[in-house]
Amino acid sequence: MERTLMIIKPDAVQNRHIGEIVSFLEKEDFNILGMRMLRLTQGQAQDFYAIHKERPFYKDLVSYMTSGKVVVIALEGENAVARMREIIGATNPKEAAEGTIRNKFAESIEANAVHGSDSAENGVNETAFYFAVSDMNALR
Ligand code: CMP
Repeated sequence: MERTLMIIKPDAVQNRHIGEIVSFLEKEDFNILGMRMLRLTQGQAQDFYAIHKERPFYKDLVSYMTSGKVVVIALEGENAVARMREIIGATNPKEAAEGTIRNKFAESIEANAVHGSDSAENGVNETAFYFAVSDMNALR
């Protein structure tokens, strides 16, 4: 069993794609352990993306992720990280396969509709960033 975090980013929330994106997850049979809407603070976005701190796009990424409401969703399932990355598609929507979330909804590499954890370890850490582990465990 793995945990993974999805963030529905400001562009997809603004464009009213929350429902369609959640239906991708339900069809995939993930167990949803937490889901809420919030507006990230500058500090939260900086900490969440700290791994990209040295990348040239970091400042713009933080500013973009704080520009509007997001929906954070904690998921659990067999092989959840890889399965979610498959339905999300490549980071750059131009490279995202037909039928993936980013192929359908992303506007650009920055406004790319969703974030998904990229490893099992990050899945554990990123879900715990937004949800209390005891709350998630109670919903398994
Ligand atoms: P995400 O999965 O949220 O992880 C980091 C984000 O940085 C990524 O999706 C992109 O939206 C954003 N980003 C912006 N520019 C780039 C880039 N050149 N390469 C990778 N990610 C980028």
